Amino acid sequence: MLGLKLPSDPRWVGIAKKNIEEILTDHAYCEQKAASYAISLIIGFPEKKDLVLAMIDLAQEEMSHFKMVHEIILKKGYRLGRERKDEYVLKLNAFFPKGGSRTDHLVNKLLCAALIEARSCERFRILSEKLNDQDLKTFYRKLMISEAHHYALFLKLARKYSVEKEKVDDKWKSLLEFEAEIIKKLGNKEFIHG
Ligand SMILES: [Fe+2]
Ligand SMILES: [Fe+2]
Repeated sequence: MLGLKLPSDPRWVGIAKKNIEEILTDHAYCEQKAASYAISLIIGFPEKKDLVLAMIDLAQEEMSHFKMVHEIILKKGYRLGRERKDEYVLKLNAFFPKGGSRTDHLVNKLLCAALIEARSCERFRILSEKLNDQDLKTFYRKLMISEAHHYALFLKLARKYSVEKEKVDDKWKSLLEFEAEIIKKLGNKEFIHG
């Protein structure tokens, strides 16, 4: 799915089902982090007009997702818990070495974002298929489609801003391999990327 090299551990959805309140809290913060990330790209690269335009829209869309998740939490009588570290994202960010040019840095950030969107999309697909709650199934199906668009957007922007077009494809391939190694050890926690 979306270039991912390894599907999620099938046991993950069982853990998610038993911990829906935790999953929803973690999910809400995934949306908030996606919005914050889009804003950080605007601040970091204000001269890239197309990037700024795309990130304005994305930040708003991700916050609208946050609002939707928050509404579900309230409707179910749950409480939005505290934000927790996303080990998956931290590990993924370690893939690219520090330093390099500003453009390299931007392209690396865009590729990481594309991959996080792809994995979120896969996890949402699983939730949309396997949960018992019909409202949640429909909700996750809608979000799965949004995240697939974001994946395509980040990949397009990475290609647009990369100086050497062939290199970006190589980088993407190695990042996918690296991500598969990370995901191999996950699937055992009540997080969206856990
Ligand atoms: Fe989102
Ligand atoms: Fe997204």
